[in-house]
Parts: sequence; structure tokens; C-alpha cells
Amino acid sequence: MNTTLELEDMQGLIVRGYEKLPEAKFLLLQINDATSAKQYLASILGQITTAANKPEHTALHIAFTASGLHALQLPPSVLASFQREFLEGMQEPTRAHILGDTHLNAPAQWQWGGPNNGRVDLLLLCYANTPSNLDQLCALHINAFKQYGIYLIKTQETETIPRAKEHFGFRDGISKPFIEGLKNYSEQEKPVIKAGEFILGYENEYENYTSSPLVPLSEDPENILPIYIKSNEHKDLGKNGTYLIYRQMTQDVPGFWKYLKENSKEPANTNEEAAIKLGAKMVGRWPEGAPLVLSSEEIDTNPSTENNFGYWKEDPEGMKCPFGAHIRRNNPRDFLLTERSQSTNLKLNEKRKEVSVEMIRKHQILRRGRSFGKPLDPSMEPEKLMAASDDGVFRGLHFICLAGHISRQFEFILNAWSKSPTFSGLYNDSDPLGAKQASDHLDNEFTCPAAPARRKYRNMPQFTQLVGGAYFFLPGIKALQYIIKTP
Ligand code: HEM
Repeated sequence: MNTTLELEDMQGLIVRGYEKLPEAKFLLLQINDATSAKQYLASILGQITTAANKPEHTALHIAFTASGLHALQLPPSVLASFQREFLEGMQEPTRAHILGDTHLNAPAQWQWGGPNNGRVDLLLLCYANTPSNLDQLCALHINAFKQYGIYLIKTQETETIPRAKEHFGFRDGISKPFIEGLKNYSEQEKPVIKAGEFILGYENEYENYTSSPLVPLSEDPENILPIYIKSNEHKDLGKNGTYLIYRQMTQDVPGFWKYLKENSKEPANTNEEAAIKLGAKMVGRWPEGAPLVLSSEEIDTNPSTENNFGYWKEDPEGMKCPFGAHIRRNNPRDFLLTERSQSTNLKLNEKRKEVSVEMIRKHQILRRGRSFGKPLDPSMEPEKLMAASDDGVFRGLHFICLAGHISRQFEFILNAWSKSPTFSGLYNDSDPLGAKQASDHLDNEFTCPAAPARRKYRNMPQFTQLVGGAYFFLPGIKALQYIIKTP
């Protein structure tokens, strides 16, 4: 099917992650007065980068929390039509429980977005090609905030890590779903997912439309919004918009490598090699990016962005890439099955694989994160990272992703796959890179299937910690116009 995407009505962050704009700052804001905040939004409307343009110098995006839309006096009936998870917020106790945000990760401990922090209404995402362009862009807005009664809660700095890596020393940003209708994809570019999974107002993987915030016809007298595809009675406030999920996670890089070096039982000639091998098993890729399922047992130091692989044929027993590895948990590809062993019935095997691939398509996210804090060692070589002493620097990942349905996509991945102790036949493991419940010593194992016996790692410390988070709505341009115009 040909999907025509309305790129000029979409914020560009949906279609690109701005690798060519390595500088970024995220501003967390609070609205004091609805009228003047709307004036500010009207003043920046023309500066929001749409998906129709590929910017070379700067890009600007805006997103709203539920409290932000409330502060802007969106009619209560309209506000109520947003997804429940968005309305409740990430910090709400039941949601926090579903997400496993307890103990050290509990919202009460957060630096922003939690019950003990200032209310976050808006998120302004600023990107630039150079530090001076970024400073200029941010200064322009920060100066305007006072004038419009907008309070800057927090400026989130970001850091581009050499060689496209994240702080632990592994290449990041490799695997991504492609959006149907964006271009003609090649055979290698997989999976191509229905646009409605990531952009509201388009058909999704259920051949349906993901629930979108709606406005009664009478509440759009200026006729700004498009008609809702499923009812003539409503306008679609979600069209060309999506939800933005933001979780700020710290990474204990010295602790990670210390654990690997002291505990690895992976076969190797040196402790360093053994540490790298265990780290790669936890991620599912070698530090330079090569997927374990396509590599030999030995450390692969060739840079790789290879993403054309599955687990069913390549690694059904998890001997190469453990079932509990970060990438295998967060996207099980063709192996989302409880039956571990292949059947002798080849047709049945094929069927199981197809079912898995079809299910996976309904639980995808577009990752748009950026790191923060200086790297522990600028070389980002694993050997140097594990030799470096603890510098106490606050570093980690601004994990940001986009999804049309918060609970079916982001929360499902986290809850059913990433932090599930029984994922894929395991029973006491959890995502080694995920922020987990450290204090009750549950779910803190990591299992590497191996012959003649699997290797178990117990009492793993928590390598990442959640320090803030929120659910945002990233509106389309017309929706933004509507929000500004509501009386
Ligand atoms: C500090 C925390 C995290 C770190 C250091 C991290 C690191 C990585 C790395 C190194 C990769 C492999 C490179 C790639 O395929 O792009 C990856 C992939 C991925 N991560 Fe994370 N990640 C973190 C948190 C999360 C969270 C919170 C989620 C979602 C709930 C997530 C979801 C994914 C997904 C979906 C993939 C792609 C898997 C695939 O398709 O093979 N990550 N991550």
C-alpha cells in the first residue's frame, strides 16, 4: 500500500535523528500563564523544523506533557481523549510499578519529572551543527522565556561520544525500524513498519488507526484540524503527531567494567578479553557494532552497522547472543517464542518464525536518544575504559523514543521483554543495561547459554539508574496551531 505522509505537517524528529546536528540541548519548561505561553508558542511556530526539510544548521522541536496542555487550557473533554498513560504520566505510582521504576529508580528520587520536582509542562529540543549555533539558538529562546512567563526548570546538556558509541563503549543507534511511505526502501532495510505505529492518523500494523486525541467539530471553529478518519463528528488533534517518551538514565561506566573484569567466566586469554566478551554478551553486539549472531567467538574489532539478521536460524539456543542480551530482549526479531528448540517439522518452524516477525512489528519504537556527560576515556576503547579510575562524572543516556501507542509499544517492550525475569525461558534475569530493582536482589542474574554448561552471573549490580522522566505529546504543526488558538 502507498502511504502518503504529510511531511510538512510533521515535526522532523519523527523522520530523522539529526546525526548531522551533533550538538543538542533539551529545555524542560513550566508555564505560568496560558495567554503569554500561547504567545510564545505562536512566536516560534514558524521555527519548528518540519519533516519536509533536512536542516543543515539547526533544528527545533516542541512537545507537551499532560500538565502542559492543561496549563494551556485545552478543553477538558479534548484533554481526556489523550492516551491514559500520557494523562497519568510516567511518575504516577501504578505506571511506575508497571515500568519497574522502584527503589533507586523510583520517581520520588528523580531529579526532574517526579513528585518532588517542579512541574514539567514543555520540552524544547534544540539541535545544531556547531556549539556556537546551538548556544545562539538556545539563548534566543531562554531570553524569550522571561518575557512570556515561562520558567526554565532544567537545561539538559548532551554529549556526542566518539565513534557513535554510548558511554559503556558500544556502538549505538544501529538498529531502527523504517517508516512505510518515507522512501523506497531496499531489501536490506528491515523492518519497514506501517506509519501509524509511529505517527498518529495513519494506518498501523493492525490495519487500524491508533487512538488519537480528538476535538468535537464545534470546538474547531477556525477549521484548523483535519477530520478524524474514523468519524465525521471529530477533528484529529493527533494527526501527524506522536508520543515522545523521555527517560534520563545514568550509566556507571567504571562499575560496569569493574564487574565485567572481576566476574567474567567467558573463555579468553586475558581478564580484559574476558570482560569485553561478557560485555558483548550483555549487549548482543561487539563494542564496534558487529552482531554476535553473525560473528565468530573472537572479539570483532571491525566497525559494523550490520542489522540484517534474526535469531531463529542463526542462534536458536542463544549460544552466540544470550536470550537476555539487551538487543535480544528489546527486539526479539524472529524469536519471540516460548519453544526454544527447533521442531523437526520445517513447516512448523517457518510458521513460528512468521508469527514472531508479525508480532514484533506491533512493538517497535523510534529511538532518538542522546548521551550526556564526558566519556570516561575519550578513546572509547574498552581496554582504556576498564583501566580508567572512577572520575565521579555524572554521565548517561537521555533515552528518548517515539511511539504512536505508549503502552503497546514502549511500556510493553520494557515490561514484557526488557525487565521480565521469565523472558524467553529465563527465570531470574533482567535487561543488564536496564535500570532494575537493585535492592531486593531479584531479577539480577544474567545467563549465557554455553556448552557443556551455561554460565551464570549472579548479584549483578545496577549499572544504570533512572533519574528523571516524562511522557510528552509531539504535535503536528496544525495541532500546534490549534493548541495556540484555543480560547
Ligand atoms: C543507558 C541505557 C541504555 C543503553 C546504554 C543502551 C544501549 C544500546 C546499545 C549499545 C544498543 C545496540 C546498538 C543498536 O542496535 O542500535 C541498543 C539497542 C537497542 N536498545 Fe538500548 N540502551 C539503553 C536503554 C534502552 C531502553 C530504556 C530501551 C527501551 C525500553 C532500549 C531499547 C533498545 C532497542 C529497541 C534497541 C535495538 C534492538 C534491535 O533492534 O536489535 N534501550 N541499546
